[in-house]
Amino acid sequence: MSTQTASPPGGDRVLTRLLTTYLRPYRRELTIVVALQLVGTVASLYLPSLNADIIDNGVARGDTSYIVDQGVWMLVVSLLQIACSIVAVRYGTRTAMAFGRDVRSGVFHRVGSFSAQEVARFGAPSLITRTTNDVQQIQVLVVMLTTMFVAAPIMSVAGVVMALREDVGLSWLLLVCVPVLAVAIAMITVRMVPLFRRQQERIDHVNRVLREQLTGVRVVRAFVREKAETERFADANAQLTDIALRAGRLQAMIFPTVMLIFNVSSVAVLWFGAHRVADGEMQVGALTAFLAYLLQILMSVMMASFISTLVPRASVSAGRIMEVIETEPSVHAPVEPVAASFGRGEVSFHSAEFRYPGADAPVLRSTSFSVGAGQTTAIIGSTGSGKTTLMSLIPRLIDVTAGEVRVGGVDVREQDPEALRSRIGLVPQASYLFTGTVRSNLQHGAPDATDEQMWTALDIAQSRDFVTAMGGLDATISQGGANLSGGQRQRLSIARALVRRPDVYLFDDSFSALDLATDAALRAALRPYTRDAAVIVVAQRVSTVAQADQILVLENGEIVGRGTHRELMDNCPTYLEIVHSQLTPEEAS
Ligand SMILES: Nc1ncnc2c1ncn2[C@@H]1O[C@H](COP(=O)(O)OP(=O)(O)OP(=O)(O)O)[C@@H](O)[C@H]1O
Ligand SMILES: [Mg+2]
Repeated sequence: MSTQTASPPGGDRVLTRLLTTYLRPYRRELTIVVALQLVGTVASLYLPSLNADIIDNGVARGDTSYIVDQGVWMLVVSLLQIACSIVAVRYGTRTAMAFGRDVRSGVFHRVGSFSAQEVARFGAPSLITRTTNDVQQIQVLVVMLTTMFVAAPIMSVAGVVMALREDVGLSWLLLVCVPVLAVAIAMITVRMVPLFRRQQERIDHVNRVLREQLTGVRVVRAFVREKAETERFADANAQLTDIALRAGRLQAMIFPTVMLIFNVSSVAVLWFGAHRVADGEMQVGALTAFLAYLLQILMSVMMASFISTLVPRASVSAGRIMEVIETEPSVHAPVEPVAASFGRGEVSFHSAEFRYPGADAPVLRSTSFSVGAGQTTAIIGSTGSGKTTLMSLIPRLIDVTAGEVRVGGVDVREQDPEALRSRIGLVPQASYLFTGTVRSNLQHGAPDATDEQMWTALDIAQSRDFVTAMGGLDATISQGGANLSGGQRQRLSIARALVRRPDVYLFDDSFSALDLATDAALRAALRPYTRDAAVIVVAQRVSTVAQADQILVLENGEIVGRGTHRELMDNCPTYLEIVHSQLTPEEAS
């Protein structure tokens, strides 16, 4: 097929696979649609020959009662045809919409199972376009297929048969007009095909730019980049407009071309038909019927060609959708999960290594350590030393590339991710809150926490004052927690982890936005609360880590020192360097 030129390799195959997979549940509805379309098409094919009959046998002979009889019959056939079309379109569109919903839900669930790595690979803007616009493209195709396309082949084959029944002498006109129309439309669509893939990519691009600018609006303002960013958006927009215009212009050519061919064909039929009528080889009714059939045939050829212009675009979208659906998340649940039988947390790393796909060097190298229940381990290290990476391995946000990480004595990869995660309270480096209330955000930590438990968590997280000022547990939180300060956000995300009462606490640089006094008060309140749990704290400040049972000093993905504050002061130059950069000598000793 000509439409394959710019599709991705096997693009049409991917489209077929997507359609068959997701339309399978709707076989019954589709059968009904095809059946109704069949009846409707037969009815509309019958009309011209009835009309011819009225002209030749009624009008020509002046037989009024024959005209009325046949006219009533024509009316019945028309109503039947209308009824069939209405019901077929209803079923067809409902099926197409249901199909769209299923595909969207399929993509959505797959994206939901992705680890940070897969999300980073596609990029959030592209995942959004794929879930919305790309699904839409295929949905449009399915609407067209179910409502129009089914009728086209029936119409053209039966139309040819009916036309030949009316008059064989004019049949050569079919042999000329139909191929001319098909070739003309094919020539236009072939040129449209390559534009579609680029159009989807440019939609991605516009989304990416816009999203980046909205998220980074403060940076844009603060650095007076508005002009440059406006230009960047205008550029992305102009590129999309350009390609859409080019595709649109080609699409706009289809209609005039079709009309030209239609009208030239009609003139030809009338011209040659009139000679045959004059020679007595053909009746007037037959001529009108022949003309009607020719137009019906051309119409269905046009419909089929028009729909086939949608196929390349849908193929591109199908490829993009299937790419998401068929990407296996790198973090997946084990077939037979092992339940870690432990009441209290206990985390250990055994020569754990993590390497980003395609990176030359691992960002975390042969890391081994263990944290017992009731112990606090602090991790300190310069930016980019791999602290967040190390933390992400524990709740399996990413998986080790060598070695292993155990929680409760069992390799995390052998545990059910949900069971594992429900035992972990993570406070991520970038605090993120969801639209809702303080209560609904804390419920992310523990869905059935009581108000009292929530207030205890808020107390420890030093948030009682500002939450009360905001209006208590039912105070509104806007998207991402935008109506809170950075420190307030951080404290609420600490409370969210606390209310869960997990076996393992992970604080990734969670005290950085707090002033020293609040930091100290929070840590003091935290100690009795987390007595039975394993606690891992990532921090930049020596004052935050000094009292930990064990401190790990991370440098370039390697542990270069471990021990208590005192021990490290004596034997770890890197630690000493950090301490001296932050404290006065008296404080340090
Ligand atoms: N998606 C990624 N792809 C490739 N490399 C990455 C990716 N994310 C992080 N890295 C690299 O991994 C290294 C460790 O990053 P990580 O976030 O663990 O550092 P960190 O110690 O938490 O730093 P910070 O103190 O600034 O939070 C960095 O050098 C970074 O360049
Ligand atoms: Mg970090």
